[in-house]
Amino acid sequence: MPGPVLSVEALSAHYLTRTGLRVRAVDNVSFSVGEGEILGIAGESGCGKTTLVNACMGLYLPPLFHAGGDVRIDGTSTLGSSHEHYRSRVLGRLVSMIPQGALNSLNPTRRVRDMATDMILSHEAGADRREIQERLRERFARIGLDAAHVLNAYPVELPAGIKQRVVIGISTLLNPKIVIADEPTSALDVSTQKSVIRLLFELMDAGIVASMLFITHELPLLRHVATRIAVMYAGEFVEVGPTEDVIFHGLAPYTQALMGSMLSIDPTGRQNRPVALEGAPPDLKLPSVGCRFAARCREARSDCRETEQRLRTIGNRQVRCGYVD
Ligand SMILES: Nc1ncnc2c1ncn2[C@@H]1O[C@H](COP(=O)(O)OP(=O)(O)O)[C@@H](O)[C@H]1O
Ligand code: SF4
Ligand SMILES: [Mg+2]
Repeated sequence: MPGPVLSVEALSAHYLTRTGLRVRAVDNVSFSVGEGEILGIAGESGCGKTTLVNACMGLYLPPLFHAGGDVRIDGTSTLGSSHEHYRSRVLGRLVSMIPQGALNSLNPTRRVRDMATDMILSHEAGADRREIQERLRERFARIGLDAAHVLNAYPVELPAGIKQRVVIGISTLLNPKIVIADEPTSALDVSTQKSVIRLLFELMDAGIVASMLFITHELPLLRHVATRIAVMYAGEFVEVGPTEDVIFHGLAPYTQALMGSMLSIDPTGRQNRPVALEGAPPDLKLPSVGCRFAARCREARSDCRETEQRLRTIGNRQVRCGYVD
């Protein structure tokens, strides 16, 4: 039985502010992703999703720093290895990231062909350029792009949906074991969203990508994407479980409130009317006491603000709320 592709153990990643305070953006998070699996991570803006992505990738740019725990990709720790070793062995080859706002990450002054060629050359320094061009034509055609046109284009000449395909195409050129996609469908219209999701599935079906971490602030979107879901709030996971269970029968009050705040269709095809989730996630610079959701929770009891909540296993789920049976 192969080990997990991505294994995250008690990971903490904090920012250090100018005034010396810590922002506990990711706090003691553990999970793993196996081959063929798509783990969806959902939570409101500011809950630590992008920080978690960067920490999983081992990308600690100040003021972000590693505050504890470990991340292993295909058994290799993303911590402790030398920068060069890590860049050549892990980034792009084992793990590839589709960053948040990726559409704007393409260099506007370079043709798609040059960016894609650089991606390959940065890992295969002596590769034959003619062979690279053949590989690019083949891969771009395989992911539904008009290779001759798109490879010669500058990003500005391409519509958003094609640009996102290009980003995904370039970031998966080396057939990574896992793709970490941070909000890959936000800023896209619904039909383009669907085609991007279809492309990610195709990459998995074709064996180009073995597994995926799919991040979004839209929990209902994960219904047709993820095999399992982790709901994140204030730097912590508050519920982890199978997709349909988390979406339609969330146990943690935050999961229920998040799901209830969004337009969604239930399993019988009925459309739910969204109910606003009032307030905002807590300031992660302040020391936390008790349940981090207490100030906004409709189920809150008198001791919720004092009692630290741990993730407990309930059936096929992990839930961070002491009042769930
Ligand atoms: N450079 C930074 N310095 C200090 N705090 C930051 C920085 N970047 C993000 N944060 C804080 O970290 C928390 C998590 O942010 P982020 O990971 O971007 O959340 P999400 O992706 O879920 O929207 C937020 O409270 C945010 O304000
Ligand atoms: S511990 Fe209390 S405040 Fe926190 S989610 Fe459960 S009921 Fe709500
Ligand atoms: Mg983000």
